[in-house]
Amino acid sequence: MTSTKPRVLQIGRLLPWLEERLAAAHDLHRLADEADPQAFLAARGAEFVGLVTSAGGSGADAALIDALPSLRVISSFGVGLDKIDLAAAARRGIAVGYTPDVLNDCVADLAMALLLDVARRTSEADRYVRAGRWGAAGAPAFPLGRRVSGAKLGIVGLGRIGRTIARRALGFDMAIRYHARRPVADAPWPHEPSLVALADWADFLVVIAAGGAGTRHLVDGAVLDALGPEGFLVNVSRGSVVDEAALVHALVERRIAGAALDVFEHEPQVPAALRALDNVVLLPHIASATRETRQAMGQRVLDNLALFFAEGRLVTAAPLD
Ligand code: NAP
Ligand code: 8YV
Repeated sequence: MTSTKPRVLQIGRLLPWLEERLAAAHDLHRLADEADPQAFLAARGAEFVGLVTSAGGSGADAALIDALPSLRVISSFGVGLDKIDLAAAARRGIAVGYTPDVLNDCVADLAMALLLDVARRTSEADRYVRAGRWGAAGAPAFPLGRRVSGAKLGIVGLGRIGRTIARRALGFDMAIRYHARRPVADAPWPHEPSLVALADWADFLVVIAAGGAGTRHLVDGAVLDALGPEGFLVNVSRGSVVDEAALVHALVERRIAGAALDVFEHEPQVPAALRALDNVVLLPHIASATRETRQAMGQRVLDNLALFFAEGRLVTAAPLD
């Protein structure tokens, strides 16, 4: 018997409970179950009116959107839109739902965790203890860290998450400035139109701008040189925003003090040169990965689809212009 539920294609794997609820509410098919996804899309792509994907995973490029000629809605798990071809969606009148705001707190928390970790060397100290070097005969004392309280914080991208990071930094009595293309009207912190000038001023530069072509390699060798040998870089936005090769050189040559990274240019690949350094903290893209936040993100993926199929609109629609 033909299902009356909307036919929805799922790209990549999602949380098990979310997959179950997607399957209960829709006529769901997982592309990951196909041995030959391209052949499947060519043969059956026209069946699907909905697409579920993730921001940090597969997104939805123009080729995928083209392969789904009946597509009316995309629901993405995450806030980043860099992997979704919004122009291709807009041309076809396809609505795009995403999950802003519900992850602000956890991403900001993790940005602060990374900042504290790289400054106070906590991951490095943990490795030192586990290796039995604490108190070992002839072992050098663990090196001193860098004070965080009262330090200067430069934020690259004062959007929803950037502002949430700034509020947390106030609790550490940090001086705050930010860089974005435009000053944020209600922000109490100084806007710095030059990213190099912001890096030159800052002790810590936290990157939380949107990814995509417009911000590719925004943090380049010149910005890192301005940050300087006493400065730390934290990236929780997208690997593409930082010129990773320039970062590796700056770290290896000790032209910056350290880096803490949740995201990389070619995930899940992490350059061996980074893995070899002690003044670097490396995480596997987990800034939103708490049970509570992933629950809220998954619920929004479901709610966006439910509202779209009931009323033709989304709870949180991505800007398509
Ligand atoms: P948002 O509210 O849209 O803020 C994006 C910020 O980026 C804005 O301040 C924007 O300011 C700035 N920006 C955009 N283009 C720029 C450019 N060329 N130069 C300088 N600044 C630029 O987004 P959000 O919700 O805070 O999320 C930010 C990003 O974090 C997401 O897009 C996503 O990639 C990333 N993220 C990562 C994780 C993770 O797991 N690591 C989790 C969630 C989000 P202007 O437009 O004024 O320039
Ligand atoms: C991902 C993220 O959604 O929201 C974003 O933009 O990068 C993350 O929250 C998550 O890693 C699942 O892809």
